Amino acid sequence: MLGFGTVGTGAFRMLHDNKKAIEDKIGLPVEVVRIGVKDLGKDRIAPSDLFTDDLWSIVDDPSIDVVVELIGGTDPACSLVERAIQNGKHVVTANKEMMAKFGSRLVQSAKDGKLDLHYEAAVGGGIPLIQPLKHQLAGNDVLQMMGILNGTTNYILTAMQQEGRGFEEVLKEAQAKGYAEADPTNDVDGFDTMYKISILASIAFGKQVPIESVYREGIRKVTKTDMAYAEILGYRIKLLGIVDAVSSESIRVRVHPTLIKKDHQLAHVNGVFNALWLRGDFVGDLMFSGRGAGSDPTASAVVGDLIDVGRNISANGQGSAIPYGTGMVTEPIDSLVSPFYLRLLVSDRPMVLSVIATAFGENRVSLAAMEMKALDEGLGEIVFLTHPCRESDFQTALKQIGEQDVVDTVANWFRVHDSK
Ligand code: HSE
Repeated sequence: MLGFGTVGTGAFRMLHDNKKAIEDKIGLPVEVVRIGVKDLGKDRIAPSDLFTDDLWSIVDDPSIDVVVELIGGTDPACSLVERAIQNGKHVVTANKEMMAKFGSRLVQSAKDGKLDLHYEAAVGGGIPLIQPLKHQLAGNDVLQMMGILNGTTNYILTAMQQEGRGFEEVLKEAQAKGYAEADPTNDVDGFDTMYKISILASIAFGKQVPIESVYREGIRKVTKTDMAYAEILGYRIKLLGIVDAVSSESIRVRVHPTLIKKDHQLAHVNGVFNALWLRGDFVGDLMFSGRGAGSDPTASAVVGDLIDVGRNISANGQGSAIPYGTGMVTEPIDSLVSPFYLRLLVSDRPMVLSVIATAFGENRVSLAAMEMKALDEGLGEIVFLTHPCRESDFQTALKQIGEQDVVDTVANWFRVHDSK
């Protein structure tokens, strides 16, 4: 094992507690023979003679069959995994950043070496997502996937929605409880979701999604005011990773806070839970949900992968890495067709609505719903929901609206999931 943090500790415990059942399923003994860590000084649940701070000695040890990489990040994880594969070892990893950035290359090397490279724990913690996409669902053309793939942000958004509290306040509390990291960027700015949805899209569509092509927004802009309006209009706000099949050749991958109808299954995935909803041409609509992070659920995915590797070894298999190539064609966000939510603060006087409606109309944006209320100090608050329109048209209308004298502030806007 490389790394012995939350996931490593859970995997070690599961291998220990369920040893007999796991070995019976594989048909071979399983032994953790070495654990590589940065700091040898810490107290840990595994016997101290297993630990080394020389991670390279593990990937170079000829007596080791399988390397379980749980250190995360790309450096040195990626070089260690590459060396393990060169040395003929199967690899199990939970590393989403490494797989999102270098998955195509790593899986191909494993395939060339007739080895396994499994990464179920990289996305959705304990929820089986990667294996079903690779196998049971592989015959489908996937039309759309939408995932709540980050527990930290879902915890924050759920608390904001259920308790009417603001983003900063809930984030601070989540940090104090250890649910959110001291530097929350990776989660709240959508990087974690971007890595995870990129991996799922790469498997479902057979080519690596360059992460630079993923449109990404985090949840910092979500306010309790917007949460409350969303509720009135019949929606919840969730951070979704979304993949749309745009044509037979291209997809669009995006991560952003999204208004989703309260009657959609994803609207009911709350707290630290994760979920993936997908629509396949033959299977129809499907949703997976469960615990997307944490020691035990993620260990469950790691050990499941290990059992798969063990069964292959036991059957003298040739490895079951399923490569995906490169060259995925992706569409930019500008050509997205979506409904939008817009909240404005305006002067509370005559003609305001007609000025705004003209800007929408001139840019082919049609309105579907509206909420309005007078605030103090001569201001009014107006919230619009549009019919589906082109992102570029909505953005042009928004710019035009922001320049009107009668408009005090463009307070916020979000994309809305089109439930059709
Ligand atoms: N930081 C992630 C989350 C867990 O909040 O869901 C690991 O993927």
